[in-house]
Amino acid sequence: MSGRIPREFIDDLLVRVDIVDLIDSHVPLKKAGSSYVARCPFHSEKSPSFSVNRKKQFYHCFGCGAGGNAISFLMAFNHLDFVEAIEDLAGFVGIEVPREAVEYRQQKQDYSALYSILEQAAVFYVEQLRNNPEGVAAVEYLKRRGLSGDIAREFSLGYAPNEWDSLASRFEHKLLVDAGLLISKDDGGGYDRFRGRLMFPIRDKRKRIIGFGARVLDDSLPKYLNSPETSVFSKGRELYGLSELLEKDSKPKRILIVEGYMDVLALAQFGIFYSVAALGTATSKIHLDLLFRFTSEIIFCFDGDAAGKKAAWKAVQEAFPSLKDGRQVRIIFLPEGYDPDSLIREQGIAGFEEQIEGAEALSDYFFGYLSRDINLDTVEGQSALMSNARPYIEKIPAGFFREMMFGRLSGEGVGGALDISKKPAMLNESLIPRQMISKGKKSKASPVRIVVAHLLQSPQLIDVFEQRELDLSTMSFPGLDVLKDVLLAIEEIKPSSSAVLMEYFRGTANEKVVNTLINWDFFILSKGVEAEFLGAVDLMLLQAEESQLNELLTRERESGLDQEERKLLGKMLVKRI
Ligand code: UTP
Ligand code: MN
Repeated sequence: MSGRIPREFIDDLLVRVDIVDLIDSHVPLKKAGSSYVARCPFHSEKSPSFSVNRKKQFYHCFGCGAGGNAISFLMAFNHLDFVEAIEDLAGFVGIEVPREAVEYRQQKQDYSALYSILEQAAVFYVEQLRNNPEGVAAVEYLKRRGLSGDIAREFSLGYAPNEWDSLASRFEHKLLVDAGLLISKDDGGGYDRFRGRLMFPIRDKRKRIIGFGARVLDDSLPKYLNSPETSVFSKGRELYGLSELLEKDSKPKRILIVEGYMDVLALAQFGIFYSVAALGTATSKIHLDLLFRFTSEIIFCFDGDAAGKKAAWKAVQEAFPSLKDGRQVRIIFLPEGYDPDSLIREQGIAGFEEQIEGAEALSDYFFGYLSRDINLDTVEGQSALMSNARPYIEKIPAGFFREMMFGRLSGEGVGGALDISKKPAMLNESLIPRQMISKGKKSKASPVRIVVAHLLQSPQLIDVFEQRELDLSTMSFPGLDVLKDVLLAIEEIKPSSSAVLMEYFRGTANEKVVNTLINWDFFILSKGVEAEFLGAVDLMLLQAEESQLNELLTRERESGLDQEERKLLGKMLVKRI
């Protein structure tokens, strides 16, 4: 690990990047169940055994064993050294690599200059809407679309004059460029990105302006322009309208996800203030997790056309991993030809609320979608549904909802065939990672390795482990050292993801075993990962005791024990009776 690039930066980088996007831009990936696959770029093969896991932010090849995080991938694929890989990765995410810890802190402070310039630009645009003679056309446009002055004020709508330098002549160029407001030219100059457009400031959940959406006032194209990705703005993480919604109600009963800026505004004007819009991208798991911090129910609102249906299926797949117990997702398909804006204007709030009441539960939609071309009266049809549905349901976090989805699947298919909840949690197949089962290498999946693998994959389990108050210093069994190292690492760096933890072990003696275990894929039963983990811990302790007992017995036979040891042996034997 280079001493010069601050660790927080590398951690931050790994949190920002999505390894699926990164690898897909080098090696086109195909979705397969919960992961993405391709033919391995690191060895030649006919069928794909290279797999990328979004949750863990890792790739792994079952054929040649190559594997790692985003940094490892760039190093291996482009033959880069560590620092070069970090630089390329930062470039991919669109940020610069700081060189010293000190600089990094300064750079963090610099964000405040970005927030400030964005705020000033927003104030400028609002002012132009009101006072620039050109702004009259924008006000007219808003009126034509039926938007009230109150809504325009509440969402700080503005107008960007149709000039090349209305911002460029007023503010510092470098800041404007960093904020995504200025497009720089080769000669060192630059011009305003947004010209002659209605401006929609986008705020983060802390109410800071981070970017803009911008609409033309006529039929010219592109209809909307959005801010580019910047240090403070990332489309995959932000939602239009969330800040304004939270201002009204910090714990809304439900949140509606709609498609466009205008939909959010129209709904708000009619009193449905609890909608947000993704910024011209699909809704991501990050979006959903963000919203679920504030509400327990999310309702997707899609157009009734083919594009809407396609978007719905995609959104639902994205939603599964976020569906912890107590969280609900429902789906509305609007009548053809309508968006929320036009529907609420035509049918009023009552009409729209009817749509909300009639929204379809995610489970109904899911089974309906998967059964659409299947004849469930045949065993073939039932088993097809099972095998299609299972990979999705497995992505639901352990809990009642997941169990009920499995329950419904077995009810819908061959009765009870999928009752997985009956498997005991000792070292049978349930504890063993899938890879080891498929390769018939169960013995390599020793309890201590399973314990370590769980810790690497879910570092927060360290709390559960520490509650057991074990004294590892008195123990001795194979694999204990790795376990201790991993525990120390988690305590020290408090990793936000497994990818961060893996980075910590780069270049250490444990690198290889960490990379292997971090890629193990567990079949977590309905009792949850914590119960699985504790089951493995118990088994590890049992085996540790067993091996200590054997060792004492052997030595007693061969060379005799001292008094302490004989006492211990006695105790252990008594315990076993
Ligand atoms: P729509 O084309 O459905 O527009 O795009 P809309 O929201 O109904 O807009 P109005 O009613 O014509 O004003 C939906 C969303 O897709 C993104 C925007 O976020 C928009 O709100 N989009 C659309 C773009 O980013 N760029 C475009 O050129 C078009
Ligand atoms: Mn519209």
